[in-house]
Amino acid sequence: MESRGPPATWHGLPLLLLLLPPSHEGRAVRHTLPRQRTQDRPALHLSNGPGQEPVTIMTFNLTKIIKTSSSSEFRAWDPEGVIFYGDTNLEDDWFVLGLRDGSPEIQLHNHWAQLTVGVGPQLDDGRWHQMEVKIHAASVMLGLDGEEVLHLRQVSGPLANKPQPIMRIVLGALLFPASKLWLWLVPALDGCLRQDDWLDQQAQTSASVPTSLRSCAVESQPGIFFPPGTGAEFSLQDIPWPHVEPWAFSLDLGLQLAAGSGHLLALGTPENAFWLSLHLQDQKVMLSSVSGPGLDLPLILGITLQLKLTVSRVVLSQGTKKEILALPPMGPASLLNLWAQTQGRLFLGALPGEASSASFCLDGVWAQGQRLDMDRALSRSQDVWTHSCPQSPGNGTDTTIKSPPKNLL
Ligand SMILES: *[C@@H]1O[C@H](CO)[C@@H](O)[C@H](O)[C@H]1NC(C)=O
Ligand SMILES: *[C@@H]1O[C@H](CO)[C@@H](O)[C@H](O)[C@H]1NC(C)=O
Repeated sequence: MESRGPPATWHGLPLLLLLLPPSHEGRAVRHTLPRQRTQDRPALHLSNGPGQEPVTIMTFNLTKIIKTSSSSEFRAWDPEGVIFYGDTNLEDDWFVLGLRDGSPEIQLHNHWAQLTVGVGPQLDDGRWHQMEVKIHAASVMLGLDGEEVLHLRQVSGPLANKPQPIMRIVLGALLFPASKLWLWLVPALDGCLRQDDWLDQQAQTSASVPTSLRSCAVESQPGIFFPPGTGAEFSLQDIPWPHVEPWAFSLDLGLQLAAGSGHLLALGTPENAFWLSLHLQDQKVMLSSVSGPGLDLPLILGITLQLKLTVSRVVLSQGTKKEILALPPMGPASLLNLWAQTQGRLFLGALPGEASSASFCLDGVWAQGQRLDMDRALSRSQDVWTHSCPQSPGNGTDTTIKSPPKNLL
């Protein structure tokens, strides 16, 4: 949005739009129909792929705008991403409200101001927070849970005087590459919006059908969730490197829920993903290497599973249980070679092309003790929950976790 603040009211989409089936190909822009109270529609998840695709795009005719505020309730465990973007012009009149390190951040660029400003309160606690963005005269104000937390003065001009009197509001994404922001961030946000009311409903001229990949109806907890058949891929160049003298590498996996069978993790290359792999099957965690028979541990949830690699062996341990897999003497196909090539990968979840029924929730994955961020993966399935897991009743080991409905809207 503009300098003058993000305009916006976030209004709900009309009922008829909500009843239309979500369209993943071509998001049809439809004219606004009589307004539906946003309270009556389900919360909207902000993910639509790895952060590139907006969940919805709304347009407003600025010459008709009377109400210049937007409000919504927001919930996330994810500390970083874009809540909404607004502009009248991609090049020189845009506004972004996002999260960084769990706190709100505004970036704006227009004729009057170019700035990035962050404000204190942490919002990544999984609770619903009320937020409001108001544009008044030359000011932009941000309110959180009923309190004004930020008042930016002299950052906006009159909305009605824009050379291009159309404002776009986009949820969960930017309309330009993230590298064009003042301060780069990963746009994908694993979070939900509800009771959203964008700018002035009377001035809304179009809204695309929301195309969230996920429902917000499932109660969530912090974590990383891989529904069946989903996976992520990290380049070994991008994650912490092994210790050198002596050579050693560790991976820790905090399994909270698991069901089905398939890969949890593998080290390899896209051509040969199986150099070393950890597989879930029959309530067991099985470790195997290309070179020979493997070993297993019973599946126990809630205790970190650790893999310690050295030149000659791999130690799989969990709590007091420990199993050791000997590796063949170093050869040209040695494990260490994976780090010497740009193709070396750490795979999490289903391998490319694998028909896996495994679904699992992790409270984290650590390489050399450092937590990996799914938003920094080289690639990942769109359906991976990057910062949350479904809360499952009971211990979750005996129930198949179903992939949540694609779209409840
Ligand atoms: C915006 O609204 C004004 C006033 O109703 C109208 O004249 C103008 O054509 C509208 N512009 C667009 C792009 O819809
Ligand atoms: C917990 O898991 C065990 C198997 O490990 C199963 O027999 C039991 O029914 C599960 N309990 C609940 C409440 O899911």
